[in-house]
Amino acid sequence: MTLPGAPHIAYRGDDLFIEDRRVAELARAHGTPLYAYSRAAMLAALASYQRALAGRDHLICYAMKANSSLAVLQTFAQAGCGFDIVSGGELERVLACGVPASKVVFSGVGKTRAEMRRALEVGVMCFNVESEAELEVLSQVASAAGRIARVSLRVNPDVDAGTHPYISTGLKGNKFGIAHQDALANYQRAAGLPGLHVVGIDCHIGSQITDAGPYLDALDRLLELIETIEAHGIPIHHLDLGGGLGITYTDEAPPSAEALVTSLLARIDARGHGHRRIMFEPGRSLVGNAGVLVSEVLYVKPGEQRNFCIVDAAMNDLMRPAMYQAWMRIVACRRRDDPTMIFDVVGPVCESGDWLGKDRALAVRAGDCVAVLSAGAYSMTMASNYNTRGRAAEVMVSGDRVWLIRDREQPSELFRGEHLLPANAG
Ligand code: LLP
Repeated sequence: MTLPGAPHIAYRGDDLFIEDRRVAELARAHGTPLYAYSRAAMLAALASYQRALAGRDHLICYAMKANSSLAVLQTFAQAGCGFDIVSGGELERVLACGVPASKVVFSGVGKTRAEMRRALEVGVMCFNVESEAELEVLSQVASAAGRIARVSLRVNPDVDAGTHPYISTGLKGNKFGIAHQDALANYQRAAGLPGLHVVGIDCHIGSQITDAGPYLDALDRLLELIETIEAHGIPIHHLDLGGGLGITYTDEAPPSAEALVTSLLARIDARGHGHRRIMFEPGRSLVGNAGVLVSEVLYVKPGEQRNFCIVDAAMNDLMRPAMYQAWMRIVACRRRDDPTMIFDVVGPVCESGDWLGKDRALAVRAGDCVAVLSAGAYSMTMASNYNTRGRAAEVMVSGDRVWLIRDREQPSELFRGEHLLPANAG
């Protein structure tokens, strides 16, 4: 059985390995729930983009919302990446890793004035602006600070990415981007406002896209728009095609990043735009299949209608199943000869929606460990403290080396910063 994440996450005999380490041993050493990542898998995923872009002016801006742990950012920074951020908090994280702000693009529909001021102060490479109102506020903030904000407009190309409605962002009816038909007017507005300097155009049509078609459609619409905008005297230096490339959770077969980017570049060159700086903002495709969530089986609870495998990880550790009904593969960290049973794999949180997988065939006993695969993206970053549960520890594996990259959150940390009412409150 080939697992998503192979060859870096695979069985050797009956044991699940992440690179050269037994996952069950990592769980024993660091406790559970535990996120474990393969550094080689991250770098291999990045290399697929880099191969296609080699030899041209480009920047891959890792969308750090997918996994913003410092050691993950550091890994990509050392490999030459820039970063796509969506909040002031993400900006501080990326700066904490020593990344120069000149490699950071700032996306998001709701940037605050304070976030804009900080981003201008440190000198981010570009603001990906999503509305006319934001252009005006950014112009005011930049002028007041005596700075120039480099801007790109996120254009909504109105193409259907064919993905889950919560993660489809390029259609007319959603909150993201500037409508295609309003783009020229917004570029003209931007070019006329003080404190702004137009440098590029961007789009992002959705996430977990498994087909090149929607990208090519979006690209065609963008190239046409660039030609119109430049014909009006506004030069567009870079073209940022966003993120969105999907990964294999079950049987999806997305194109490789190299194949996708190669076909996009062919179209860009054919239409005479090959001289532009090309940017991407991949998140999931760089980290998704590089991580697993390891959890201990607490109880096996057979029932009349359903059998439950109750594990120590829950929806607060991994929201994707509860939130998007996402299917993520769950496997035993050590295979047994026992007959398999069909389980709902659930956590300890007091909600019926607290499940990690339904109808899974597993041979497990209490005390065994299971791993939820493809949990490198939108997993730890979406974790919460619901039920006053501390967030999991994280380790990074490289060959036979392993580093603890985040301590398990302790209960006292969960109410740090909270205050009891004073005695005289009555
Ligand atoms: N750029 C922008 C402007 C974005 O909004 C996103 C993701 C990305 C890049 C990176 O997209 P990726 O390459 O990761 O698909 N929590 C959801 C996914 C939300 C994606 C939001 N935007 C999930 O767990 O499936």
